[in-house]
Amino acid sequence: MTSSDLWDADTADRYDESSAFMFAPEVLDPAVDALADLAAGGPALELAIGTGRVAIPLTDRGVPVSGVELSGPMVDRLHAKRPGIPVVVGDMATATVPGTFALVYVVWNSIGNLRTQAEQVETFRNAARHLRPGGRFVVELWIPGIRRFPPGQTAAPFHVGAHHAGFDTYDMATQQGTSHHYYRHPDGTVTYGASNFRYIWPAECDLMAQLAGLRPERRSADWAGAPFTGDSENHVSVWRRPI
Ligand SMILES: C[S@@+](CC[C@H](N)C(=O)[O-])C[C@H]1O[C@@H](n2cnc3c(N)ncnc32)[C@H](O)[C@@H]1O
Repeated sequence: MTSSDLWDADTADRYDESSAFMFAPEVLDPAVDALADLAAGGPALELAIGTGRVAIPLTDRGVPVSGVELSGPMVDRLHAKRPGIPVVVGDMATATVPGTFALVYVVWNSIGNLRTQAEQVETFRNAARHLRPGGRFVVELWIPGIRRFPPGQTAAPFHVGAHHAGFDTYDMATQQGTSHHYYRHPDGTVTYGASNFRYIWPAECDLMAQLAGLRPERRSADWAGAPFTGDSENHVSVWRRPI
């Protein structure tokens, strides 16, 4: 049993279009380049592989990629585009995939879909179990934007446009949050969608990695390796299984 929301067929059908900005070459190419380097010629496992946004171009770079994904409809979308990528339908905290890997990765904040600290720790442990000695676990995660919340405020907008308005609500006592989305369609109707998450601090990630027996290798603010600072809004973190 997982605490994650289950992504349904409607969400899966709209995913590539509604996430188009994350497929843009300037966003995707640096991620694929970095992951190909980190795989160092070995096979990779993507946790929460989705519709293959990253896995497909990484496979095209010669890295054999397997996946774990909770949502059957997301896997169906992936396989409609690229039938050959092996995916275990299951929970990234517990699912077992045949083989061991040079690289395990979870990108675009997906580990936050698990809404308990215990499951997030289990995901680090599950990643470590799938790594070869010397293999790397990579997490791409945003920094919770709580600087935007003055005392007493619980919601902050992250996008306001003619066709979409979105805001986050956070509970800082429990590290739980919800992203709320309002979409205005060409016929004038408005639909609402929400997704729930538990945010994790970088230092908390390091402790989860330590609990999983992994050692820190590097942390940057983006895939191109920009220095991570107190003002960074994202991090790409790499830990290694000891040899
Ligand atoms: C933001 S999407 C990212 C998909 C893909 N990695 C990408 O970068 O486009 C988050 C994905 O996490 C999956 N997910 C959520 N909870 C999960 C869990 N507990 N185990 C495996 N996958 C999960 C969702 O079904 C969804 O496909």
